[in-house]
Amino acid sequence: MRCDTLWTKARLITMTSGVEIVEGMIAARDGRIVYAGPEHDFDADTTHDLAGRLVTPGLIDPHTHLIYAGDRCHEFRLRLEGASYEDIARAGGGIATTVKATRAASEADLIAQALPRLDTLLAEGTTTVEIKSGYGLTLADELKMLRAAHALATHRPVRIVTTFLGAHALPPEYAGCPDDYITEVCEVMIPAVAAEGLAVAVDAFCENIGFTPDQTERVLTAARAHGLQVKLHAEQLSNLNGATLAARHCAVSADHLEYLDEAGIAAMRTAGTVATLLPGAFYTLRETKVPPIDALRRAGVPIALATDHNPGTSPLSSLLLTMNMGATLFRLTVGECLAGVTRHAATALGLGAEIGTLEPGKACDLAIWDVDAPEQLVCRVGLNPLYQRVFNGAVS
Ligand code: NIG
Ligand code: FE
Repeated sequence: MRCDTLWTKARLITMTSGVEIVEGMIAARDGRIVYAGPEHDFDADTTHDLAGRLVTPGLIDPHTHLIYAGDRCHEFRLRLEGASYEDIARAGGGIATTVKATRAASEADLIAQALPRLDTLLAEGTTTVEIKSGYGLTLADELKMLRAAHALATHRPVRIVTTFLGAHALPPEYAGCPDDYITEVCEVMIPAVAAEGLAVAVDAFCENIGFTPDQTERVLTAARAHGLQVKLHAEQLSNLNGATLAARHCAVSADHLEYLDEAGIAAMRTAGTVATLLPGAFYTLRETKVPPIDALRRAGVPIALATDHNPGTSPLSSLLLTMNMGATLFRLTVGECLAGVTRHAATALGLGAEIGTLEPGKACDLAIWDVDAPEQLVCRVGLNPLYQRVFNGAVS
């Protein structure tokens, strides 16, 4: 059989079941995997002899706020001096600080500021990154953020998946009138984002310092009416039954989930909603309530892991460290950590048929590692053993 590129003498972790290693090869044609398994006869234009290196699917970061301007490290200092995330938000800092800086930035500024963060993710074998808007909070500024996010894929070999997060925080123009802002989100912003094809999903921050369940429900209803997928920041700081609400709207994922309860888990299981856990925010905020991992496992709810990269609660640009935190802080197994940034991360983006495992028909996105065993990717902190990154069949 003929193909464009072969990677031979590989040790494959296909992520189709567990983290078993298959000795063999991968063949790609036109950017797609045509074969992944034991060595086989192929004619190829290019052959890479991997000398026994480990190959996983390219890593997927299914929840980031990578596009923003400015910096919030002063809040880190304030928290060290005793302030909480909520204190800072209520005093007009937090997300509002980033909104001011992001509104003042041009699309080109936003791209320039995001590229070093993106490069850090790519250097560790990441091939797909979800990026949310949510620091513009006007139609023009939200569209600017989403355009900047898409533009990253013209600057770097990466798949960018965009989510509209207009209901991230209340903009100052709507102080005291959150319902009016939600009307703007539902009746103006979501239709415009959908019409321009600038996002595939809609997300909201359902929280005491964000939006109420009723307001969130309006946003998710509008999203579905415009054919967009639904995601939700739920149960991060308190339990508002956001996961149940998200599941009722067939959400592809509910994210954070420290305060998730049994009813929320049951609703997620029924709806097939992925639990995307964000240990970087848990770590940065020194949260002590661990998401209900055992109950999620028992229910068979798929668990994804993401950096939640943002300037406030998770200034984290490493999926390797995210996996380590998932294991160390949440006691996820090595297999769960790897599935969290590959197979289940793909499902959390509605892309389970396209990426996330090494299977014929999927995009040939690979991370090739100088390690002997999958646990070496999760255990070590601060060492990047990436040997080669492949995006859509091309070494990059
Ligand atoms: O996912 N929780 C809300 N959104 C972000 C934080 C954003 C920020 O503080 O800038 C999160 O943690
Ligand atoms: Fe987030």
